[in-house]
Amino acid sequence: MSDIITAIAPVNIAMIKYWGKRDEKLILPLNDSVSATLDTSVMCAKTSVCARPDILENEIWLNGIQNSFSNQRLQNCLNSIKAIAREQQSVSEEFLSWNVRICSMNNFPTAAGLASSAAGYACLVTALARLYKIKTDVSKIARVGSGSACRSVFGGFVRWHAGVQADGSDSIATQIADSSHWNEMRVIILVVADTKKHISSVKGMSCAVETSELLKYRVQVCVPTRVKQICEAIKDKDFSTFAEITMKDSNQFHAVCLDSYPPCVYMTDVSHKIVEIIHKYNESCGAVKVAYTFDAGPNACLYLLEKDVPEVLSLIKHMFPTTSDDFIKGLDAPTTHIDLIKEFPMNPLEPNLLKYLIYTKLGDGPEIITDESHLLNAQGNLL
Ligand code: DP6
Repeated sequence: MSDIITAIAPVNIAMIKYWGKRDEKLILPLNDSVSATLDTSVMCAKTSVCARPDILENEIWLNGIQNSFSNQRLQNCLNSIKAIAREQQSVSEEFLSWNVRICSMNNFPTAAGLASSAAGYACLVTALARLYKIKTDVSKIARVGSGSACRSVFGGFVRWHAGVQADGSDSIATQIADSSHWNEMRVIILVVADTKKHISSVKGMSCAVETSELLKYRVQVCVPTRVKQICEAIKDKDFSTFAEITMKDSNQFHAVCLDSYPPCVYMTDVSHKIVEIIHKYNESCGAVKVAYTFDAGPNACLYLLEKDVPEVLSLIKHMFPTTSDDFIKGLDAPTTHIDLIKEFPMNPLEPNLLKYLIYTKLGDGPEIITDESHLLNAQGNLL
């Protein structure tokens, strides 16, 4: 029998986006990307794993529902870990022959449409690496689950190096700075009410690689300069440079999506309103105080400094009226900044265009935890 290992792992949001693979099987990107890891106390994936002789076939349960284990990416992660365990002789051959049971859940609503695969795969490989007692950089194993997952194995600010090797051995993530380095950094996620059909990252990326001329220019010319500049801005805690690069890169990523044929449209009218509001706000401040970034969906992620949070929250509440009592998750209702609102050059939009906001900060990488609530009982049933 083996122990049950439980891990938690964070979500990460990229400032320099990963979009486009040079190898779809090994999940090798065309360009470096840079992200920030969010606090697991607000959003995280939690995964328990065990290996036992009486489990008849490998099992995976996602948010309490059993899914098929046929997913190739999942199998690739498990096989990579087992191959390393065999090489390092960290567990017995008998242990390696047993099937696994994996139970994974997110503590944030999946309805938010927020990318959960990064946290999920980072969590899975962290738990499996402990189960099989291997010593290795788990970022390259997380990468074969989902590219962006390799960045969720570190806290703070993280860079995923595209690498040049055909086998992906140098396509790994490294930490730029830990979560305490820029302590004042805060994140507000604006969850946009949306019913649009989502085009998967896999499809969107391969279409961009095949058809977008702009992607080639982005990879060769724009990203290398931006990565260098944003790493320096992070080290120097230069918010306006950080914010400007973040917004430009989000805009260019969505331009690449539109330049794909057929185009991939992820941002909605509400997303574009958010962009307009943030630019108007920064203009009215005479300084870049907030950055927006959008992944492959309509939700906005705002980066800002703690001192500006009350004013920005009150602006968002004013611009996006809501009938929800639980609009801001993670913070009390902000006080209204009357002067800002009176002079703001846009009228409030119609009610309930945003579902809710998530307020959070940067955090650390995955952790192994002892949490009885998520363990399996002796019969192997979910508790
Ligand atoms: C827009 O990591 O989800 O969020 O490697 O195919 O699993 P796969 O893609 P995924 O792509 C994330 C793309 C992005 C940008 C980013 O996080 O860098």
